[in-house]
Amino acid sequence: EILIGLVGSEMCIRDRPERMRKPLEDLKIVQTASWVPDQVIDNDDLSRIMDTSDDWIQSRTGIKRRHISKHENTADLASKTGQLLLEKSGWQAEELDLILVATMSPDAYTPSTAAIVQGKLQAKNAVAFDVSAACSGFVYGLAVASQMMSTGMVKKAMVIGSEVLSKLIDWHDRTTAVLFGDGAGGVLLEKVPVKAPTLLGLQLKTFGELSNELSAGMTSSGNTFPKPLTELTPFKMNGRAVYRFATHEVPESILQASAQNKLTLDQIDVFLLHQANARIIKQVAKRLKQPLEKFPINIAEYGNTSAASEPILLDECVEKGMIKRGDILALSGFGGGLTTGTIILRY
Ligand code: UT7
Repeated sequence: EILIGLVGSEMCIRDRPERMRKPLEDLKIVQTASWVPDQVIDNDDLSRIMDTSDDWIQSRTGIKRRHISKHENTADLASKTGQLLLEKSGWQAEELDLILVATMSPDAYTPSTAAIVQGKLQAKNAVAFDVSAACSGFVYGLAVASQMMSTGMVKKAMVIGSEVLSKLIDWHDRTTAVLFGDGAGGVLLEKVPVKAPTLLGLQLKTFGELSNELSAGMTSSGNTFPKPLTELTPFKMNGRAVYRFATHEVPESILQASAQNKLTLDQIDVFLLHQANARIIKQVAKRLKQPLEKFPINIAEYGNTSAASEPILLDECVEKGMIKRGDILALSGFGGGLTTGTIILRY
């Protein structure tokens, strides 16, 4: 039974005697939703408070504006997304078995952002915890949920990527401040009978030796007794190193995930990449020799929203009819850790 729902499961089930066969069950993305704060800060707004320009930001990143929270914290954005997911799907909160929030900007060390969301939604039957893998977080979250579902432990799951990165930004540091934005997006997943497997590839990789290339919220290792608590450190990134990392490792991750079920890249309909920089996405498309039209880009509107960027993009594409039932999607994230992750799913 453990084989059911795992990558390659169809092949394993086919090998069993007829009487042992069970209907193939797998992961279905039942619903998508997203939520971003109202306040919009455009590049000109930033050039009034730091030495930068609309021209530099657009030409180097593709970003025109970003949504920045005024009062809402990460759990607020995640809860609004969760509420929308329930309203749009007609699911009741009590039906949920699992709530995962992928975030690098949690409300607190404890409780987890997911626990706050579970409380707000009154999803009293759901176990809830956070996944910390920065910009790869949403893919890591889908990976954890899918594996908990494949064993039968979880039938209905909510996976959300939510970030209020603006609280971690040094608004005097132009090398990071212009890049990030706030927002949340998520999906409802259900284990359902299917004709063909839906989880077609999954690859995760962590590069801890590169952990210093991107950091935020570092704590002091010194014993603070009897001093007051020290402030968390703001966002710091070696932009060029992470750029090089992303353009090499993301194609590799996608190729490895697709090889698991012998998918060719041409069979993948849409590549939903983490929205860190439009130039990175174009470079990845080029390296994979795939047309750029298969790589939707919405970074102009939101900037880099870390774990939220892929579910926001997925929701937009579904709402606009750019993604349809049956399409094969490759979601690929990369960032802090450093980390990469790709999941290939039939929508
Ligand atoms: O989501 C997590 C993963 N993160 C990423 O994937 C980010 C990866 N890195 C990048 O996307 C790019 O490296 C950046 C967008 C961060 C930077 O672009 P770049 O083309 O690598 O620029 P650079 O860092 O090499 O800087 C070029 C110049 C420098 O000036 P000099 O040394 O050439 O005189 C910078 O000081 O641009 C300067 N600069 C700016 N100028 C105006 C850096 N930031 C700014 C700015 N406005 N905001």
